[in-house]
Amino acid sequence: MEWWFYTGIAAASYMFVVIYLHLRHPEKHLNWGNIELSDVDFPPTFSWGVATASHQIEGNNHNNWTQFEVSQNLEISGLTCDHWSRWKTDFDLVENLGVGHYRFSLEWSRLEPEEGEWDQGAIEQYSMMIDNLIERKIEPMVTLHHFSHPVWFEAKGGFAKAENIDYWVRFSEKMFSVLGWKVKWWCTINEPAVFASMGYVLGEFPPGKRSFGLTRSVSLNLMRAHARCYRALKSLPGGEDAQIGLVKNINIFDPYRRWNLLHWIQAKLLDEMFNQCWLRSLRTGKFRPPSSIFSRKIDGLRGSSDFIGVNYYTHLLTTPFMPTTVEIDPLKRPWEERTDFRYPMYAEGLRRSFDMVNSLNLPIIVTENGVADDDDDMRPEHIRRHLWITSQAIRDGLDIRGFYHWSLMDNFEWAEGYTQRFGLYHVDYQTQERTLKDSGKLYAEYIAKSKMPQVVVLAGGLGSRLGGMTKATPKSLIEVDGKPILSHILDWAHGQGCKDALILIGHLGEKFDGFSHRGMNLQFVKENQPLGTGGAIWNARQYLADEFILLWGDDYHPIDYKRLVKHHRDNRQRLTMTVIESHDTQNLQHAENRVIAYSKSKIDENFNGYEAGTSVVQKSVVESCGHTGSWSWEETVYPQLSGQIHAYIDETKFWDMGTPDRLAKLEKFLKRNRS
Ligand code: GAL
Repeated sequence: MEWWFYTGIAAASYMFVVIYLHLRHPEKHLNWGNIELSDVDFPPTFSWGVATASHQIEGNNHNNWTQFEVSQNLEISGLTCDHWSRWKTDFDLVENLGVGHYRFSLEWSRLEPEEGEWDQGAIEQYSMMIDNLIERKIEPMVTLHHFSHPVWFEAKGGFAKAENIDYWVRFSEKMFSVLGWKVKWWCTINEPAVFASMGYVLGEFPPGKRSFGLTRSVSLNLMRAHARCYRALKSLPGGEDAQIGLVKNINIFDPYRRWNLLHWIQAKLLDEMFNQCWLRSLRTGKFRPPSSIFSRKIDGLRGSSDFIGVNYYTHLLTTPFMPTTVEIDPLKRPWEERTDFRYPMYAEGLRRSFDMVNSLNLPIIVTENGVADDDDDMRPEHIRRHLWITSQAIRDGLDIRGFYHWSLMDNFEWAEGYTQRFGLYHVDYQTQERTLKDSGKLYAEYIAKSKMPQVVVLAGGLGSRLGGMTKATPKSLIEVDGKPILSHILDWAHGQGCKDALILIGHLGEKFDGFSHRGMNLQFVKENQPLGTGGAIWNARQYLADEFILLWGDDYHPIDYKRLVKHHRDNRQRLTMTVIESHDTQNLQHAENRVIAYSKSKIDENFNGYEAGTSVVQKSVVESCGHTGSWSWEETVYPQLSGQIHAYIDETKFWDMGTPDRLAKLEKFLKRNRS
C-alpha cells in the first residue's frame, strides 16, 4: 500500500474520533440575553441556604492551615470574621436573608486540640450555636471536614496514612453523639478531590506537597474515611434519621480547541481524575484514585451517601500545557466574563454537573455556588443565571432539593487570603462591620418569593349539626382517621411548604393544650368570648403576616398552594378565594375571575360557584374591613370587596365535616389515601 493510503486512513480516523467527541460532549453555551431569567419556579419545600466553613470565618484557629500560612508566607488568616465571638449577630444576618438552612463546618482543631483531649467549652459553644439556629427555624447542615484539621493530626501524616482515618472517624462519632439528635444534615468530607489535588499535586494547600504517590494515598484514604464515617454515624442512635452525604466539587473540563485530539484527551483525563472516578466509586464501591491504574474495593463505600452535595464554580478549558499556578489566567471563551478569581462565569456548567451526578440516583443539593466579585457587579447576574439553571433542571425532573449560596459573608479564601470576596454580606476586616450587598438583597428576594405564606386556621368553631360531639369540643379537634382534623389540615399545609401557622382557637382555648405539629411553628390565639370568624381574625391581627393563607378548621381542602399563591400575587388583588364550580350547591357568583356576589343563606339563580375554603388574604383587608366585637368574616368581607376578589377556579374536591355523614366520607377518603 502507498503511504498516502495510510495517511488518509489516519486522517479519517482522527476526524471521526474528533467529530464523535464533539457531538457526544457538546459544550453548552446559552444566549443569556434572550433568556427570561425571572422565569423560575422552586418547589415550596426547596431548601434555601447559605454556606461557610470554620477556618474561613471563625478566627484565631490553630490548625494545619495556620501552620501552612506561616510556612508558605501566605496571608495570615488571623481573626478572619471573628465569627467565634460574633456568631449570634452573624446568625441575625443568616436569618435576615430569609434562608431556612445554614451549612457550616466544625473546627476539629478547636474540639480536639490535642489528641484525645476534648475541649468541652468548644463542644458546648457549637451545641449552643445549633440550638440558636433551630430556635430561629434555620436547619443546620454540619460539615465534618472542610479542609482544616488539628496540627497533631497533620504531624501524624494526616490522610496520607490509612491508620490515621481512625482519628477522624472517632471525632465524627463523638460529634454525632453530642449533636446528632438535633442536626439532621451532615456532610462528611468537603471536596475530597480539591483537598487531594491542591494539597498534594499543586502544593497550594497544606501540606504543600507535589507527589502523585501521596495524592493516590490521600484520595484513597479520604474515600475510605468517608465510607467509614457514613457507616459509623448510621449505626449510632439517630443515624437512621440523619441525612449524611459527600460534598463533591464538580469541575467541568472542556477542550480548548474542539478539533484538537490532544485537548480532548486532556479534558477526558482530568474529568476522569477529578470527577468521574470519585462519583463512580459511590456507585460501585470500587475506587481508582487519580494517578492510579488499579481500582480498589472500599468496604462500605457503595451507596454511602443519602444525598450528593454539589459545589460548582466554573469550567476549565484544557490543553496539554495548562497553567498550574493561579498567577496565570486560565483560558476562557471570548464571550465569557472573568470572575475576580480569573476563571470565567459559566452557569451552563451547573446543569452539566447536575446531569453528571444524576447517575448516582440520589437527591442533589447544591452545597456551594457563588462568585468572587469585589464590587458586587457580577454577583447578581451570577445568582440569576445559576438559579435559573437550577429551576430549569427541576422542571426537567431532576431531584434537586436545595441551594446553598457560597458564602454568607466575605471571608478568608484559603491560599488567596482576603483578596477574594465571596459574601452576600461585605465584611470590613478593620471594623468587622457587615453590610448586606445588592446581591444579598436579590438572593433574599428569590427566597421571599418562593416562600409559602403563614397559614391562619379558624379552629375555634363549635359544630351545631354534629350533635353532642361538638358541644364543648371545637370541630377542628374531632378525630378523623386517627387524629384531629386540624392535624390533617396542617399535614397538608406542611407538605405544601408552609412553616408557620396561626391557630385561632376560639374561647375554648384549653382544649388545644399540648397540641403541636411536627415541622411547623404553631402560634395559638384565644378569645375571651366567642367573636365569630371575623372577630377571631381581628382579635389576632397583631400576629398576622402581611399575606396569609386562610383556612377553615373544619375543612380539608387538598389544593396546590403554590399555584394558588402565584395566582394571588400575579392578580394583585387583596383577597383571592378558591371557587369550585362542580359543587352540589352554590353560594356565589363569579365573572371574569372576580367574585361579584356571595350569600351564605339565600341562593340566587345567578350563582355559579361555591367557596371551597382556602383563600389568600392581604392583612390590609383585615385592617380595612375589621372591627372589634363579634362578626362574620364571610358575610362582612365578601360583600364589601365584591368585584375585587380574585376567583381562583379549582375543582379539587374539598371536605367539610359539618355533618356525621360528611365526617364518615372524609374518614373513608383519608384512609384510602393512606393505603
Ligand atoms: C470551595 C470551598 C470553599 C470556598 C469556595 C470558593 O472549593 O469548599 O471553602 O473557598 O471554594 O472558592
